[in-house]
Amino acid sequence: MNLVILAAGQGKRMRSDLPKVLHPLAGRPLLAHVLETARSVAGALGLPAEVVVVVGHGGARVEEALAGYEGIRFVTQQPQLGTGHAVLQAVPMLHDAGPTLVLYGDVPLIRATTLVGLLRAAGDGVALLSARVPDPTGYGRIVRDAAGRVTRIVEERDASDAERSIDEINTGILAAPTLRLKSWVAQLRNVNAQREYYLTDVIELAVREGAPVTACVAPDASQALGVNSKSQLAQLERIVQQNSAERLMQLGATLADPGRVDVRGDVSVGVDVFIDIGCVFEGRVELADRVKVGPYCVLRDTTVGPGTEVAAFSHLDGCRIGASARVGPYARLRPGASLDDEVHIGNFVEVKASRVGRGSKANHLAYIGDAEVGSRTNIGAGTIVANYDGANKHSSRIGQDVQVGSNSVLVAPIEVGDGATIGAGSTVCREVPPGGLTLARARQVTIAGWKRPAKKVKA
Ligand code: UD1
Ligand code: CA
Repeated sequence: MNLVILAAGQGKRMRSDLPKVLHPLAGRPLLAHVLETARSVAGALGLPAEVVVVVGHGGARVEEALAGYEGIRFVTQQPQLGTGHAVLQAVPMLHDAGPTLVLYGDVPLIRATTLVGLLRAAGDGVALLSARVPDPTGYGRIVRDAAGRVTRIVEERDASDAERSIDEINTGILAAPTLRLKSWVAQLRNVNAQREYYLTDVIELAVREGAPVTACVAPDASQALGVNSKSQLAQLERIVQQNSAERLMQLGATLADPGRVDVRGDVSVGVDVFIDIGCVFEGRVELADRVKVGPYCVLRDTTVGPGTEVAAFSHLDGCRIGASARVGPYARLRPGASLDDEVHIGNFVEVKASRVGRGSKANHLAYIGDAEVGSRTNIGAGTIVANYDGANKHSSRIGQDVQVGSNSVLVAPIEVGDGATIGAGSTVCREVPPGGLTLARARQVTIAGWKRPAKKVKA
């Protein structure tokens, strides 16, 4: 079968430099949603599929953005003379055998099951997907005869007042046997208000040829929604977010407010996970059993072990956290941060590319970068691992049961032995032996009888 995705339009109403189909919906380009759905249609039918994406406006950027997807062929439509003209550009790439399904890059919520139904309904003729919507403004309308048979689609701009009052709209999505579709698009004319070759006119051609024409009404209208403006994009984003919140709750998560959680990727949850308001999840996030995420946290590509609590306003990116740990409030874990079980990372503590051993703590105002920290070690408030010399990054090893006094600087590369204690305010640049107390700060002195300078008295 063939899957043709139309993505050449400019999307003027978006008022953006970004090609319309690249605008993100739940963190992925609109077009990526359509592509993945297209793939699963072919998968569900067990048919090999030729996927052709018609690009035009910002075509190079669109191709670049989809570089991660294999087996897609791009065809450029230049200039863009309408949806029918777009399909015509794809025609040379389409296998004659089997059906062709035409999808729109800006109609991203369409479901694979709906499309499978549409392909089945097409049979020997054409099946189009329609929807009943409360406000049909801007869409093409489905015109039916007295017997309820579809006779044609009329675009809003070409419609009479009576036709404009029809609430059954065209989603733009249609399926037909490839050879027939090829012959119909070759016959399209641009005699209409926009001087465009409308794909929708194939319906009239099919009717004239006596081919069966079926309009399948989408089971829910949200599947048919197109993105033409920022406002519609936001509307669709809410629908997607509502669905993913629903999914999380079905999996057993408790959401403080399903309307205030945003998932821009894949989140898996164990049992009794609690997510407070204002959280954003990006990429792949795994929350094990009993994880609590406080309000306004951002988690990206992160796994959190069972019973761990991430407190308010924490930012976690590319890290792994073990079981029963405590992170935040106001913690920042950057890529490569790996916390073992029962680690505590407190407010205004940043950890990057470092492993922190079981039960260790850095509770306040610290930076741990490129370091290996053993178990049960305490990193005092204000401690900095100075990992960067202005040109290169260096690694450090801090042993187990170490006490690093407040406001210390550990200049990397450095090694701190097990059980060592570093006095507060020390700047250590050389190896710290295990066990002892290491001080690297000026000795405290008191100058007895010292006189404060006094203001000169004017004569
Ligand atoms: C189209 C349909 C309309 C339907 C609506 C659903 C036609 C003539 N009209 O109108 O009946 O209700 O979609 O959303 O088909 N595109 C190209 N090349 C072009 C023009 C468009 O690739 O020359 C692509 C766009 O990138 C977009 C899709 O086709 O993905 C739809 O184009 P758009 O201009 O948004 O069509 P509508 O006016 O919304
Ligand atoms: Ca559109």
